[in-house]
Amino acid sequence: FQVPIAVNEEVKSYAPGSPERKEVAAAYKELFNAHTEVPMYINGKEVRTKDTRTIHPPHDHKKVVGEYHLAEKTHIDQAIAGALDARTEWAELPWEQRAGIFLKAAELIAGPYRAKINAATMINQSKTIYQAEIDAACELIDFLRFNVQFMTDIYNEQPESTSGAWNRLEYRPLEGFIYAITPFNFTAIAANLPAACALMGNVVVWKPSDSQMLSAKIILDIFREAGVPDGVIQVVHGDPVMITDTVLASPDFSGLHFTGSTHVFKDIWKKIGENIHNYKTYPRIVGETGGKDFIVAHPSAPAQQVATAISRGAFEFQGQKCSAASRGYIPASIWEDVKKLVIKDVKSFKMGSPEDMSNFITAVIHEGSFDKLAKYIDQAKDDANAEIIVGGGHDKKKGYFIEPTVIVTTDPNYTTMHTELFGPVMTIYVYEDKDWIEMLKLVDKTSEYALTGAILSTDRYAVQEATKALQNAAGNFYINDKPTGAVVGQQPFGGARASGTNDKAGSMLNLLRWVSPRMIKETF
Ligand code: ALA
Repeated sequence: FQVPIAVNEEVKSYAPGSPERKEVAAAYKELFNAHTEVPMYINGKEVRTKDTRTIHPPHDHKKVVGEYHLAEKTHIDQAIAGALDARTEWAELPWEQRAGIFLKAAELIAGPYRAKINAATMINQSKTIYQAEIDAACELIDFLRFNVQFMTDIYNEQPESTSGAWNRLEYRPLEGFIYAITPFNFTAIAANLPAACALMGNVVVWKPSDSQMLSAKIILDIFREAGVPDGVIQVVHGDPVMITDTVLASPDFSGLHFTGSTHVFKDIWKKIGENIHNYKTYPRIVGETGGKDFIVAHPSAPAQQVATAISRGAFEFQGQKCSAASRGYIPASIWEDVKKLVIKDVKSFKMGSPEDMSNFITAVIHEGSFDKLAKYIDQAKDDANAEIIVGGGHDKKKGYFIEPTVIVTTDPNYTTMHTELFGPVMTIYVYEDKDWIEMLKLVDKTSEYALTGAILSTDRYAVQEATKALQNAAGNFYINDKPTGAVVGQQPFGGARASGTNDKAGSMLNLLRWVSPRMIKETF
């Protein structure tokens, strides 16, 4: 079969007065004033328990917009058993039927659910409409459409056969079930992790983030309406350690599809190792974890381009993209110009609720994140080797608001040059132009993480020097751009070192992890 040719979903503008702006504003109002109940979803049934937690918008944390239900251990056991019961029928469904379900899900998001899933992402994850649109609408639609194309590319990859024998590779789903743990920061990633596995014929137990419950519920509603059968994607919420321990105790656990923090991923990996003798098969482990993404400017780089890379790369979505820039290395010869432009840009950013669509910055995700960021910012105010050149304010009375903050340090090993903060704080080290090569070595040496990075230069020799020196320091390496905004089908995404297993979300490489091929040789 020829599947529909995947094209990237067009980003809507949400210009003042546009019909899409009116529609999303109405959806926001409706969802904000409703009380959304988010049950779990096990074996095709909504499961409610007595143990619930309320849902709050980070930018208005006293407001309750809903509640979600938490699992007991028996629910996790039921979810695993039900997924395994559903497995054979799902795995044996012809692939084009599975593809049809997820292509329909893409169309449901592109059309009837677009305003609602964007509004949920604005309310519960505090994204501006522009950040919600490129995530919950476009990136998610792209994942669903491109994965169908990648799947058929995989299935078409077949060995040669000679006369008298027929060699064929059968791309079977894994034997067992997959556990998906998903983050708050991208609605698209939350949906893609279970969807990519299910598309390849697997059954999944999915634990969404507690900070993303509204959009997780809409993703599930869409999957149900698109026709994902009962038991294929089981949704559970609750104590992450209890859920993970219960999942990992099952001999049928066959894969982990994870996006989240480095230390949680390492803990789970260790537990998988401890249980290895109990499993029927070696579990596949795929994770995208932390980052400390860099911007490196060469003296030849135009100051305006460097400033824009910093202010957009570090501060869109409050610096909570895994790809967001959080450390910069800028040459002394252009620093004064870059500094003026960055300060001007950052001061022009309006901060407040995403309901007011002229705001560029909204709140960070929760109090824990706010407190951590405020602590590092206040520390920089006291440290002799650090100076805050713009921002530095924080206020959590109504919402978890942290001003976009730029710290300049004289110490390339200053704490915020290497600690992952996951928020709107960018730290800059100004180097002497003559130290360019030494500085590249330093960036590589201090890259514990290796997710994204950007180099800005108009000198091709310098571009080559940086590309080589930083070859292991970023899985997504940008030349003359900010380090965020990878597009599915164009820039497969992921990094190595402490940033993950680098299985590149939005590519064949990722989908290949969710199949266990059988090689068949038939002799005539
Ligand atoms: N696609 C997201 C970005 O690159 C993760 O920013």
